[in-house]
Amino acid sequence: MTRLHIISASTRPTSSGRALARWVTELATDQGTFNPTLIDLGEVALPFLDEPGLPSDGRYVHQHTKDWSTVIGAAECFVFVMPMYNGGFTAPLKNAIDSLYQEWQGKPVGLISYSAGASGGAPAVEMIRPVLARVGLRPAAHTLSIPAIDDHLDAAGHFRATPGLTGEARAVLAGVARPADPAQREHAVA
Ligand SMILES: Cc1cc2nc3c(=O)[nH]c(=O)nc-3n(C[C@H](O)[C@H](O)[C@H](O)COP(=O)(O)O)c2cc1C
Repeated sequence: MTRLHIISASTRPTSSGRALARWVTELATDQGTFNPTLIDLGEVALPFLDEPGLPSDGRYVHQHTKDWSTVIGAAECFVFVMPMYNGGFTAPLKNAIDSLYQEWQGKPVGLISYSAGASGGAPAVEMIRPVLARVGLRPAAHTLSIPAIDDHLDAAGHFRATPGLTGEARAVLAGVARPADPAQREHAVA
């Protein structure tokens, strides 16, 4: 089983994307090959980077950074469920990435964005790519961007999937899965 962490990148108490992240987690569980954990950056409440040393040195003095390091170090791959704010990805997600370094290295990441508007947050996905490259995260080829996110929530606030969205999300998950053959793994995250 591949240890997958699904990171919900909104910290808003009324986040619409939290329901989407829960649905992605359920989808990953149903797939049967993942051991998924949902990480809600709102619950993690990581302070803005306050370590005296460089994250790339990995000598953390604050317990919250050590805890974050343990969480991220335990994952083999990730899916970022990320809203678009003002044309970009969220500050808490940038801070969560910047707070560590080695823990991200070489791990596949799937990108699922969303927004209120028509873009589905696709510009935020493009904006985060150079950041991922800097810390050695390897973005899966397939991405999913969901416009008009609130139209996908039912009265109880649950994400309403369509067959099309389910297929797209499965393709993102396939891009971070661990194939038995390492050569296939290279291909899967190319
Ligand atoms: C600070 C901020 C900036 C936003 N900027 C955009 C934007 O540029 N384009 C867009 O379509 N929606 C924008 N939105 C709407 C969000 O995409 C929408 O509210 C989404 O639900 C936010 O995700 P969350 O509810 O999980 O935090 C913005 C929302 C916030 C809070």
